[in-house]
Amino acid sequence: MKIGVIVGTTRRTRFADQPAAWFMELASSRTDMDFELLDLRHFELPFFDEVASGASAPTQSEAGRRWQEKLAEFDGFVIITAEYNHGPPAVLKNALDYAFVEWLRKPVAFVGYGAVGAVRAIEQLRQIVNNFEMMPIRTSVHIQGGDFIAVAQGEKSLHDLTYLPPLVTRMLDELSWWARALKVAREATVTA
Ligand SMILES: Cc1cc2nc3c(=O)[nH]c(=O)nc-3n(C[C@H](O)[C@H](O)[C@H](O)COP(=O)(O)O)c2cc1C
Repeated sequence: MKIGVIVGTTRRTRFADQPAAWFMELASSRTDMDFELLDLRHFELPFFDEVASGASAPTQSEAGRRWQEKLAEFDGFVIITAEYNHGPPAVLKNALDYAFVEWLRKPVAFVGYGAVGAVRAIEQLRQIVNNFEMMPIRTSVHIQGGDFIAVAQGEKSLHDLTYLPPLVTRMLDELSWWARALKVAREATVTA
């Protein structure tokens, strides 16, 4: 099972690198899934300017096609996200808009960080991924409150937050089940 781990922010001084590295370290102990980091910085997607959604027309932009080809390799995703003004970062929404069939009927799990652990952004993402018939995993991981601030200010490390790894395990157990189940179902289905 191949899982793409999407880093949902791109700004130069982003915090995202810390949860991304921490998550990848925890995930690397799994034997049921292989994880690959997909950093939106490396895909340089322009603001969406296609004739239609990827559901109805082939994507013209080369960067968009490269993104779609990469996504097609995966059986599921983990999105690591911040919350910008109570919603998902625009670069992440743009990246979601750039694909359709590559997301279709795959599971997606969420790791959020921020004052409230990006819980509002993640609830919006759950609604958005419905349009791809994705399965949003029930358990999500939230790095929040005083602990988020302490890590962001260098007073603590994510490794100090020992209550989080059991949640990561639970979330990945659920992701693994759905990734396997939906892979079988997709392969048994002739039409997308
Ligand atoms: C444009 C902008 C909007 C933000 N809005 C929120 C918000 O609604 N809720 C929140 O908890 N934090 C908010 N923050 C603070 C972020 O949680 C914090 O800056 C975090 O580090 C952003 O992720 P990043 O560093 O990976 O870009 C906002 C930050 C930015 C830059």
